[in-house]
Amino acid sequence: MKILSAENFTKRYGENTILENVSFDVAQGEVISIIGPSGTGKSTLLRGLNFLDPPTEGTICFKDQKLSKQNIDEARRKMVMVFQSFGLFANMDVMKNITIGQTDLLKKPLAEAEKRAHEILKTVGLSERAHHFPHQLSGGQKQRVAIARCLAMEPDIILFDEPTSALDPTMVGEVTAVIRNLAKSGMTMLIVTHEMEFARNISSRVFFMDERGIYESGTPEEIFDKPQRPKTQTFIFKIKTFTFSVTSRDFDFIEMLSGIDDFCFRYAVDDKKANQLRLIAEELVLNVVAPQFGACELTVSFPESRDAYRVSVTYPGEDRDALETGDELSVALVRNTAKSIERSYDKDSDVNALKIEV
Ligand SMILES: Nc1ncnc2c1ncn2[C@@H]1O[C@H](COP(=O)(O)OP(=O)(O)O)[C@@H](O)[C@H]1O
Ligand SMILES: [Mg+2]
Repeated sequence: MKILSAENFTKRYGENTILENVSFDVAQGEVISIIGPSGTGKSTLLRGLNFLDPPTEGTICFKDQKLSKQNIDEARRKMVMVFQSFGLFANMDVMKNITIGQTDLLKKPLAEAEKRAHEILKTVGLSERAHHFPHQLSGGQKQRVAIARCLAMEPDIILFDEPTSALDPTMVGEVTAVIRNLAKSGMTMLIVTHEMEFARNISSRVFFMDERGIYESGTPEEIFDKPQRPKTQTFIFKIKTFTFSVTSRDFDFIEMLSGIDDFCFRYAVDDKKANQLRLIAEELVLNVVAPQFGACELTVSFPESRDAYRVSVTYPGEDRDALETGDELSVALVRNTAKSIERSYDKDSDVNALKIEV
């Protein structure tokens, strides 16, 4: 059953066309992830769907009703939105944040609203926090309260705009876990996200946005493994790799290592592989290539199969094997950790490359 649809959704800000003739349907129970470069209108699309910032042209239908300024208040109770910035009422405790919509908008008696709030708090793991204020909660807890507040309205659909972007990496999991449970319970959701593993696991469909609309859509496998159009391909390739440019011998290696940690976390790389990737980066870049050559570039790629990560280190200059002349112990560690090491030299650009499988 179709629950939400957009037809020829166009949004302009002055001369600037952000979205042009965007059309799609959302069926009940679907989970759609919306991905794409920043500035491509993902937030504009969500804000348009619930008329926070209505389309310039086109129609939005929610449960077979064409939305307009007249009926939007009622529709918004059933089409709720979760923002990156949580948007809790700072002067109200968790309980009040969750009951106020029920009492003031749905006109429920307070006791009933509180009963419902307790049930929902249990499902998001925050029963013990009912009387805390937002400033006493972590970011992950705040976002779970924001989700609980939406659920209290018994919505038909939830629109999430980057719900984990403002969180420390350690807290992303607690919020995605709650959203995962909602997906299991059959909740219809549109989720703008940068968490690609999450998007892949949770979605029935993925929209990739670019060029003023949905540039490519498909199942997670179609979009993440076999993107068909050039901009999708470039985007997916980029997010599946971590690159780090070393510009001098005194480069910030902590930044490099934390970038690798971040990459491993994002893609749920298992601990053993993560340690191997860190070791290769540290020994090869920090102790072998950078001391000899200064400038170099590290790339870690996410593999099709999870048992072979590719690490490549490139460095400029004449044809030279950094491993032959590098620090002996570091080189031995690299050789022992790698499954294979391949060296190449590109004469035209004077670039050496070490390609390592871990
Ligand atoms: N209120 C606004 N007024 C003018 N331009 C806007 C407004 N909101 C967004 N834009 C522009 O619309 C484009 C898309 O923004 P947005 O939907 O936030 O992108 P995304 O969420 O994909 O990063 C951007 O170029 C942005 O500058
Ligand atoms: Mg946005």
